[in-house]
Amino acid sequence: MEHISTALPSPRTWNAWWKAAVWLVGLAVASHFLWVTAQRYAQVTPEAYGMFWDRRSWLWLHVAGGSLAMLAGASQFVAALRRRWPALHRGLGRTYLIGILIGSTAVVGLLVTTQGWLALKLAFAATGLAWLITSLRGYRTIRRGDIDAHRRWMLCSYLVTLSPAVFRLFLLVPALMQLASPLVMVPSLLVLSWALPLLAYESGRRLRSLRTSPARARMA
Ligand code: HEM
Repeated sequence: MEHISTALPSPRTWNAWWKAAVWLVGLAVASHFLWVTAQRYAQVTPEAYGMFWDRRSWLWLHVAGGSLAMLAGASQFVAALRRRWPALHRGLGRTYLIGILIGSTAVVGLLVTTQGWLALKLAFAATGLAWLITSLRGYRTIRRGDIDAHRRWMLCSYLVTLSPAVFRLFLLVPALMQLASPLVMVPSLLVLSWALPLLAYESGRRLRSLRTSPARARMA
C-alpha cells in the first residue's frame, strides 16, 4: 500500500513558501503600479499630466529611472536565478542602481519645482535619502564581498523602491485619509510606505535570529 506522509512541512519548507508568497505580493504591487502609471502618462496632454505638465521632463526622467529600478530589481531576490545565472544577476544589479541614480536625480528636480508644502517636501526628501542610503550600502557591501549584508541592504533598498506603490495602496484603505487633514496624512503615509515595510522586515529578521541562536548554541 502506498505510504502517505502525515508529517508537517519542515521549518525550511515553510520559510521557502513564506518568502515566495511575499515575493509574489511584491511583484503584484509593483506590476499594478507600473501598469496604472504607464496608462496615465502614455497620452502626452496637459489633461493627463495635470500639475506635472510644466515639469514633464523631470517626471519622465523620474518615472523612467523608477520603473527601470522596479523592473530590474524584481527578479533579483529569486535564489535559483542568482545561482544559475550570476552574470545576469550582476547586470540587473547594475541596471537597478543606474535606475535609482536617474530616478533620484529627477527627485531633486521635482522637489525644487513642486508647489507642495514643507512637510510634503521633507517626506519626499527623507524617502529619497532612504532610497540612496540603502542602495549605496547594498553596493558597498558587495564590493567588500559581504554577501549577507548585501542581501539585507538590497532587500531594504527594494522595499523603498516599492514605496510609491505601497502609498497608492494606502490611499485605497477606506477612511484612512479621513483620520486627519491631507496636509498631515499625505506626508505621513509617504514616510510610512517605506518605514513600515522596513520595520516589519527588520523585526522579522531579529525574531528569526533570536529563535535560531539557541539552537545554534546547542549544536556548538
Ligand atoms: C523611492 C524614492 C522616490 C522618491 C523620493 C520619489 C519622489 C517623487 C516626487 C518628489 C514626485 C513629485 C511629487 C510632486 O511634485 O508633488 C514624484 C512623483 C512620481 N513618482 Fe516618485 N519617487 C520615488 C520613487 C518612485 C518610483 C520607484 C517610481 C516608479 C515608477 C515613481 C513614480 C512616480 C510617479 C508616477 C510620480 C507622479 C505622481 C503619480 O502619478 O503618482 N517614484 N516622486
